[in-house]
Amino acid sequence: MAKVTAAITGVAGYIPDYVLTNEELSKMVDTTDEWIMTRIGIKERRILKEEGKGTSDMAEMAVKELLRKTGASPDEVDMLIYCGVTPDMPFPSTANIISDKVGILNAFGYDINAGCSSFLFSLHTAAQYIETGYRKKIVLVGGDKMSSITDYTDRTTCPLFGDGAGAVLIEPCTDGYGLMDAMLHVDGSGRKHLFQAAGGSLNPASMETVLKRQHFIYQEGQPVFKAAVSRMADTAVAMMEKHGLTNETIDWLVPHQANLRIIDATGKRMGLPPEKVMVNITRYGNTSAGTLPLCLWDWEPQLKKGDNLILATFGAGFTWGAIYLKWAYDGVKDVTKK
Ligand code: UT7
Repeated sequence: MAKVTAAITGVAGYIPDYVLTNEELSKMVDTTDEWIMTRIGIKERRILKEEGKGTSDMAEMAVKELLRKTGASPDEVDMLIYCGVTPDMPFPSTANIISDKVGILNAFGYDINAGCSSFLFSLHTAAQYIETGYRKKIVLVGGDKMSSITDYTDRTTCPLFGDGAGAVLIEPCTDGYGLMDAMLHVDGSGRKHLFQAAGGSLNPASMETVLKRQHFIYQEGQPVFKAAVSRMADTAVAMMEKHGLTNETIDWLVPHQANLRIIDATGKRMGLPPEKVMVNITRYGNTSAGTLPLCLWDWEPQLKKGDNLILATFGAGFTWGAIYLKWAYDGVKDVTKK
């Protein structure tokens, strides 16, 4: 019997309308477009401004578009995973909230948080359910409302992040496409460099945690930068070597979008020309769990069946890794168009 692999069979995304430019940011904190472009490579990011909207609202839009494009009916979806660091609330899981909003009623699911590696880790989790035959149609949606935990008085973090969500459909494949391999890592000793201090059981919300601004992202940029550059590139190169892939046989690097310098360094270590590296950080910033599916959404028109993709991430935890994926279809999948 042919081996069952887990293939991505559709992709969609949602980004909010509001564009927060470097010019506007430089009126909020002491920064410049030149500094942000040189050190990070972000020109603008999207912000979910509307009152009363959370991550599930962006995920809802992405998943509805995914179901429309793929023609999958909500009844057929048998699992929904939400991944990210900004759930609507600590409980119930945002997966439950999204499932309800999009009418997915015959599925189970849950949330996964692996920092900015959430999508990579969750893709691997979803693949296990497909490969074992336990599930047949999984919606994986990754995204974050990073603006809800970003301190817009802190110039060292506020230029970095944006809001957005992307969703993929994952189905069984017996033709040799889909997820080929995953190399995933965690190192909890890195947690001191990047975290949100309050709002959990250790430091529940109080007047003091609010006044100390502990509900916002805390990041020591340089140690995170150093670890991201070496570990993302090391793992991507290890994946290449393990599978005998070269800079010619790899079609695309799909890197986490945290800093253009980290992306460039990873692409260079892999020997890839810039045109094989997906980059949309300039327009969206770091949407955390949203970066990878938003890249796949943006590049879907150019992707071809059989393309070799390396997905690579680094995030809070520390968490990092790479996935080798063979793309399973040509161009934009939209069953409503001829
Ligand atoms: O996705 C999760 C993983 N996260 C990441 O991968 C992020 C990794 N880290 C980074 O991307 C970079 O470390 C940052 C973009 C956060 C910072 O860049 P950097 O080149 O490491 O700058 P730095 O922290 O060393 O700061 C250099 C200087 C400092 O001034 P002094 O001390 O040299 O006078 C900062 O105060 O730049 C200053 N600075 C700024 N200046 C203008 C910091 N932020 C800003 C700013 N505008 N926004």
